Amino acid sequence: MLTLVHALLLISLLSFRLVTGQVSYTIPEEMGKGSLVGNIAQDLGLESKRLTSGKARIYSRDSDQYIELNRERGVLLVKERIDREALCRQTTPCALHFQIILENPMEFYTVTVQITDINDNAPTFEEGEIRFKISESAVIGAKFVLDRAVDLDVGLNDLQRYELKPTDNFALKLHNNADGNKNVEMVLQKPLDREKQEQISLVLTAVDGGEPQMSGTMLIVITVLDANDNAPVFTQQTYKATVTENSPKGTVVATVTASDADQGSNGKITYSITNTLDDVRKVFKINKENGEVTLIGNIDFEESQNFQINLRASDDGGLTDSCKLIIDVRDVNDNKPEINIMSKSNIISEDAKFNTVVTMINIEDKDTGENGKVQCFISENVPFILKTLANNFYSLVTDSDLDRERASEYNISVTCSDEGVPSLSSSVTLTLQISDVNDNAPVFERSSYEAYIVENNTPGLSIFTVRARDADWNQNARVSYILEDSSVNGVPVSSYVSVSADSGVIHAVRSFDYEQIKDFHFRVKAQDGGSPPLSSNVSVKIMIQDQNDNPPQVLYPVQTGGSLVAEMVPRSADVGYLVTKVVAVDVDSGQNAWLSYKLQKATDRALFEVGLQNGEIRTIRQVTDKDAVKQRLTVIVEDNGQPSRSATVIVNVAVADSFPEVLSEFTDFPHDKEYNDNLTFYLVLALAVVSFLFITCLVVIISVKIYRWRQSRVLYHSSLPVIPYYPPRYSDTLGTGTLPHVYNYEVCRTTDSRRSDCKFGGAGSQNVLIMDPSSTGTMQRIEKSILDEPDSPLEHLGQRQ
Ligand SMILES: *[C@@H]1O[C@H](CO)[C@@H](O)[C@H](O)[C@H]1NC(C)=O
Ligand SMILES: *[C@@H]1O[C@H](CO)[C@@H](O)[C@H](O)[C@H]1NC(C)=O
Repeated sequence: MLTLVHALLLISLLSFRLVTGQVSYTIPEEMGKGSLVGNIAQDLGLESKRLTSGKARIYSRDSDQYIELNRERGVLLVKERIDREALCRQTTPCALHFQIILENPMEFYTVTVQITDINDNAPTFEEGEIRFKISESAVIGAKFVLDRAVDLDVGLNDLQRYELKPTDNFALKLHNNADGNKNVEMVLQKPLDREKQEQISLVLTAVDGGEPQMSGTMLIVITVLDANDNAPVFTQQTYKATVTENSPKGTVVATVTASDADQGSNGKITYSITNTLDDVRKVFKINKENGEVTLIGNIDFEESQNFQINLRASDDGGLTDSCKLIIDVRDVNDNKPEINIMSKSNIISEDAKFNTVVTMINIEDKDTGENGKVQCFISENVPFILKTLANNFYSLVTDSDLDRERASEYNISVTCSDEGVPSLSSSVTLTLQISDVNDNAPVFERSSYEAYIVENNTPGLSIFTVRARDADWNQNARVSYILEDSSVNGVPVSSYVSVSADSGVIHAVRSFDYEQIKDFHFRVKAQDGGSPPLSSNVSVKIMIQDQNDNPPQVLYPVQTGGSLVAEMVPRSADVGYLVTKVVAVDVDSGQNAWLSYKLQKATDRALFEVGLQNGEIRTIRQVTDKDAVKQRLTVIVEDNGQPSRSATVIVNVAVADSFPEVLSEFTDFPHDKEYNDNLTFYLVLALAVVSFLFITCLVVIISVKIYRWRQSRVLYHSSLPVIPYYPPRYSDTLGTGTLPHVYNYEVCRTTDSRRSDCKFGGAGSQNVLIMDPSSTGTMQRIEKSILDEPDSPLEHLGQRQ
């Protein structure tokens, strides 16, 4: 301050000397009111009274309001605060020019008051705040013009420099303009990052050079505009999710999230699936707004166990990020086990061995884990079992013996279930036929057969049917009936009966004669058509039933043409005297042989009667002399058959006491001749009969010998079978006991007389009636060659009277 005063004084002194009558002062601006500018009186060399007396006053056109003159003190004072900037603006030097005028005498002095600047003005900016919007993508070196600050002061007090803080991104650059002003620019030195700092505030300070220094500030607010300089970023590079197969469409599988540091559209993320080769996009979709991955298709674990979805997030500026979403599919038991029949036989033989493989099965279940574990079993009560071969391979094998006759077909149901929850199962039915093996022989319906046939049947008549069943099938069950070779009475049974091979009908081959054969046995074999065939046999008994085909046959008395045979009755005979007995037989049997005797005609009906049952002829009254010697009785013998058959016999009775009487009576029969001696008559009769028999036998024997000799030459090479035939014995059925006789009745049929057992056989038919009075029997032999009539039934010969 002192320095300043001294300086001012020096200046004042200098100006006073230089300009006489002229005073100059220098004062700083902004001095207080009444501050001393200068001692004008002294400086002008005037007496202080002069100023008063001279009515000194300041004359100025424009600047009298700042300075006033104190006449009493003779000093100039500051009348009003002087603002240099208002007075002179930027003009330097800034001075006030006025005159001091004195009167009495009139004098005037020029006074100059130079106003010096003081730093009373700070630099100022027009706006306290300035705003910029700068893209973060602005390049380094970008310039931004700032407002200049203004400092009203001059010189050193004027604006000297600018400062910008902070200096992170921007630097100041000043340009000198032609007008001497300076342009202030802000230059980008380091890139902006909206994502780091969205708004930057800078302070621009303008500083002057005054003492004290003053400054003005301006706030620069920079809004960093977003540029798409940030790509979206997924929160994970790989996402994992699980989804159950068969989940309904619309199920949210996963949500992915990406973020983008940018703003607005630059930060608006759109999600998409980028898989192109597979069909992931048919199965999944992503919500492009929120990243929700949902199901739009069917998921089948058996088709794909996992999905790899490539996802992309893009912002609107085209920046992207990608990630992977790995979706594991969880299995659900949605597949039934599949039963595949690898090989199978539809037919198996009933003699198949134990453990024969029938069918091979493969099981497949597409599910995994427990869901794909399969157990199989088959229906119970079948002779098969299921064997596990290897993983999922099974074989169906026989477990016990098969029998087609018990079960010819099996429906084996194979059921397989998996172990899922709930378990799924499937089944197949295998139909297996059991093929037949000839393991059953035919079985006759009965253990033996008995049948009846009435004699005199027509040859070829079917007698009855044997039947055998065979449990086997088809050819193995086709039964043929075969007559077993055997012989009946030395004759092959085939000449008696035949069996129809197909039907089992037994036919009579010939007409049977009960009187020759009453029954016979044979065996019929039933044989099936298997290979080898099986057979069984049954015994068949044929019983021939009698027919009344034979009339009674009178054996005694023998009827000879004109014979003299007569019974003797002594005249002395009593009532009931047995004259004779008519002996008749009937080769039939039973009722057909039940004979009854009746007297049909008689010379004297009152004299004789015939025993109905026994044929005994007895006298029924005393014989008198009047009775004729020669009595003729006709006795009829009837059997009891339906219709009955009969025979008549004529019995001559001689009522006499002596043989001569009889002879005389019988030689000129019908003259009566009496024989009184019965014995004589019998002797003669016996003699005659024996002689006749002897001669006859001789003739027969010779004939036979001759015949045999001739036949041996003719039939020596014949091979026809010998059919010997032995008829049954025949006995008197009357059973009276008085005349027990045995009658033999034989038929010999042979083609080979050399081997014939028939002693009385001969060529052609022969009928020999031999009467043997000694035994009162008759032997009849019939021979008929079957060479002559092979198919004709046997005939009875020589039974007529
Ligand atoms: C087997 O099945 C078939 C067809 O369903 C049927 O006709 C047949 O009677 C069955 N067989 C048995 C032995 O059950
Ligand atoms: C008949 O069958 C029996 C068993 O029933 C057998 O012993 C016999 O040998 C068979 N006869 C013939 C001739 O086949």
